[in-house]
Formats: sequence, structure tokens, C-alpha cells
Amino acid sequence: MTIKITLPSDKSITHRAFILSALAQGTSKLDNVGQGADLRSTRSVLAQLGVAIKRENQSYLVQGKGHLKAFQKSNTPLDCGNSGTTSRLMMGLLCTQAFDSTLIGDASLSRRPMLRLTQKLNQMGGICESSSLGSLPVQIFSQTSKIKSGHYHTNSSSAQIKSAMLLAGLYAQDLVKITENLLSRDHTERLFQSLGIGIQRDHLTLTLSPISQAIEALNLAIPGDFSSACFWIASSLISDRSIWIENVNLNPTRTGFLEIIAQMGGKYQVHDLHLHYGEEVGNLEIFPSELSGIKIEEELALRALDELPLVALLASLSKGQTEVRGAKELRVKESDRIEAMTTNLRKLGIQIESLEDGWLIEGSELNGGNVDSFDDHRIAMTFRIARLRAKGKIEIHGEDCAQISYPEFNEQFDQIFES
Ligand code: S3P
Repeated sequence: MTIKITLPSDKSITHRAFILSALAQGTSKLDNVGQGADLRSTRSVLAQLGVAIKRENQSYLVQGKGHLKAFQKSNTPLDCGNSGTTSRLMMGLLCTQAFDSTLIGDASLSRRPMLRLTQKLNQMGGICESSSLGSLPVQIFSQTSKIKSGHYHTNSSSAQIKSAMLLAGLYAQDLVKITENLLSRDHTERLFQSLGIGIQRDHLTLTLSPISQAIEALNLAIPGDFSSACFWIASSLISDRSIWIENVNLNPTRTGFLEIIAQMGGKYQVHDLHLHYGEEVGNLEIFPSELSGIKIEEELALRALDELPLVALLASLSKGQTEVRGAKELRVKESDRIEAMTTNLRKLGIQIESLEDGWLIEGSELNGGNVDSFDDHRIAMTFRIARLRAKGKIEIHGEDCAQISYPEFNEQFDQIFES
């Protein structure tokens, strides 16, 4: 019997939808919004800036400010919790305000790099400063700053950095061009385009035109989160259950994981592919499969970035060796995901070598053992799935952090696989 799954809303799109709704003219309605803690961080930071957000069942109504300079100064630091996307995107936006701000976060977010973004925003005419360690708290002195038009480059392969620069560039006096070194997820560009904001892509260069009229209010049902879907995809591949996943975002800058599993021998089908607010959306059907090891390089790794811990798990259960390269960004996620996966998989008996930018993994069988989530939601959920194939019991320390992106996951998973 095929199992049917509906997903929480795409986290990347939802962050952006709340932020753009706050800038828009009138009331925006966002449907199918997930309840993860990261999205709560974006909502509460916007509320601190005077944006009225009201929940109605599964929908949120956001009272837009109508123009960028209408935010209110917060007298307390803006707390981004665990959410890298909230902190980076808000830095871009806050650089354009008529007041100063301070951004803070939890222990994990406070270790993550912010200097590479403050440097870019300062180049664009913003005035912001990270801590002496290059991290949070970040202070933004925007009373006197003015975002300048020009051509800026980023070589960080980070959609958060690109998106912060685009948000800062929204109200520059003239054209802003941004060139990235590799194509990172492009939800910001697509949402800008569907809201009538002038943005064009030429290969890796974006050209953003100054805003000539207010952004129109959004009325958006947000599709399911592909990164959350991948936990179910992996579960089906390594178990004996086929899974049908409804209404999932299939933006090609995100779906590297599907290409990876196809190369490994994973079987799946895409159904009802269509465009929704400029994003590809469809249903996915996944089948249990025999997998073999492959080599993954930077361009593909970037399009599967958040799913690489799952790739490491699948590689552990595949025939032969898997090599993942070009993924050094994994070291600065909610945990150092290269070390987190290496430590945990070794404890379960897997031969795995951590490289500066990836892993070498020999496929075999998983034993039971004690592993750690490292307070990282994606690591916690990956090892819940590992239980499907382990020869002994896997105990996971700190599993509750799944609530960062997918609060319903643990219960849903147990209902399906323990029945
Ligand atoms: C995100 C971009 C990615 C991703 C993160 C969400 C976004 O981070 O890992 O989970 O919504 O822009 P980078 O910007 O570091 O690539």
C-alpha cells in the first residue's frame, strides 16, 4: 500500500513571502504556512518591526507597510533564534531603514559566519558590523546609510547572501547587478518577478531595477517543502514502502537530491508538474530501490545542499563507495554537518572519511548505537530514518530539534513505520 504525505510549507519560500508581504501595499494572505520554529523567528522579527501578522487557521494575514521605510525601530535586539535565513535576509532589509538595529540568535546561529555578508552589504553602501568573531550580534547603523547602484559579486555560493543583497538593492537609486559564482536557489528572484519587481537573469548575473511602484499584496498558497519531502524520499528508498508526496516545490535549483538518487539507482516518478507563482510544483511517487555509490561534485552538491546528510546516510546503505565534494558550506550550517555525519555514522559502524568539503563513504550495513543530533534538525531527522535499516537500536540525543523545520515529523514517521 502506498503511503500519502502532505508536507509543511517550503521554508525558503515562506520566509521570503512573509518579508515581501511586510513590504507590500495592503493585506497579503499566505496559506498552508508551516509551524516550524524558523518561520516563527521571521514572523516575530517582523512583528518587532511593527508589522501586524494575524493567524487564521492555516493562513496568515500580513498587513503590509506599503513602502520600505515604514518599519518601526525595535528597542530590543531582533532575535532570529536558530534561523540563518531570518538573520541574513533581515540584514539586507534593515540596511535600508531609517533606524539602527541589532540582530541576535541562539547559540548555534551565534557561531555561524556573518562577516562575509556584512562586508558585501557595506560594499553596497550599508553600514553594518558583526562581532569581533565575524558572527552575531550584528549591528546595523542604517540612519545614515544609502544603498548604491553598481555591480557586486559574491563567491559564497549562498542564496541567503544573494537574497540579502537583493533585498538591500530593492530601493537603490538605480540598477543593481549581482553576480554569483554558482547558481544557488533562486526563490527570491522568482518571487520578485511574480510580484512585478524588475529583475532579469543573464547566466549568473542578476539585474535589479529600482522599484517604481508599491509591491502588490500576495495571495499565495505555499507549496510543500522539498527539503522536508527528502526525508520521506529517503525513507521509501531504504524501506519496503512506496510513498506519494503531494504538492511539493520542485524548483530545479533545489532538486539536486532527485538527480543524485536517480544516479544511485533510486526509482521515482514526478506527477502533475505545473507552475505556481513562478515555481515548479508537482506530486512525487517514490519506490523502494537498490542503491549504488556515486561521485557528486560541487554544482550538484549545491543544488542538494540541505539534503547531503541524507545522501551520506543513503551512501552508507549503498553498494560501493560514494564521494561527495564541493560541499564545504556544510561546515557552517546549524552544525558542522560534515563532522556530525562522520561522527554518527562511524558510531553505527560505517567506514567514512571526512574531507574538507565532503566525505568518502563505503556502503555496508548499519549497526545500532548512540548518536547525537548536535542540535541540528536535519541531523536528528536523518538518524530517525536510519532506524529503518539498523541492525540494532539507534538512540538519538536531542531529537526534539526537528521542530525547527518540521514539528510533525517524528510523530508522523512513527505512525507510518511503526504501524
Ligand atoms: C537557504 C539557503 C541555503 C540553505 C538554507 C536556506 C535560503 O543556505 O542551506 O537552509 O532559504 O536561502 P545558504 O544561503 O548558506 O546556501
